[in-house]
Amino acid sequence: MKKRVAVFASGSGSNFEQLVNQSRQQDLGFEICALVCNRKKAKVFERSERLGIESTYIGLKNFETKSEYEQEIIRYLKSKDIDLVVLAGYMVIITPVLINEYTILNIHPSLLPKHPGKQGIIDSYNSKDKEMGITIHQVDEGVDTGPIIAQYSFDRTGITLEKAEVRVHELEHENFAKDISKFIKNN
Ligand code: GRF
Repeated sequence: MKKRVAVFASGSGSNFEQLVNQSRQQDLGFEICALVCNRKKAKVFERSERLGIESTYIGLKNFETKSEYEQEIIRYLKSKDIDLVVLAGYMVIITPVLINEYTILNIHPSLLPKHPGKQGIIDSYNSKDKEMGITIHQVDEGVDTGPIIAQYSFDRTGITLEKAEVRVHELEHENFAKDISKFIKNN
């Protein structure tokens, strides 16, 4: 049986689209069954509609506490029989309420533990690091601190920020689906 995956996103959703397409084109052991987004006007909703993936808006600002917000998310995930949560550009810090219910994977645009937080690409670019890259990891209670599943890097010598951003996204799109698949097979 394929694992039922929900993707959480807040913005553009290019990784979401790759996950949907790649899991449809190959048997990766999972299918994307739902999109959860915390921003009403996020571009990712255009993608979910075009791709025919059920989506829901659940906004943190509509709840008194983050715990109530995450409990609402959990109710939604349970109603869709979700087995695994994947964060792809989800800009909200997850708390133990959700972590204790679901295994959660994240993609981050730096070579963790270097440059956690919201500006992974710019912080990496502005550092003296010779390599830039991406990390796929399991989510724990910290910000971008959970166990690392895979990392991919490139030599950033002499390249512009724009080129570095393109390379980061290429690495994300090439690897995320495959590594989710491996994680599912090994766990
Ligand atoms: C990616 O760079 C990801 O690493 C980070 O947020 C970005 C999301 O991009 N967490 P997109 O919305 O998938 O295009």
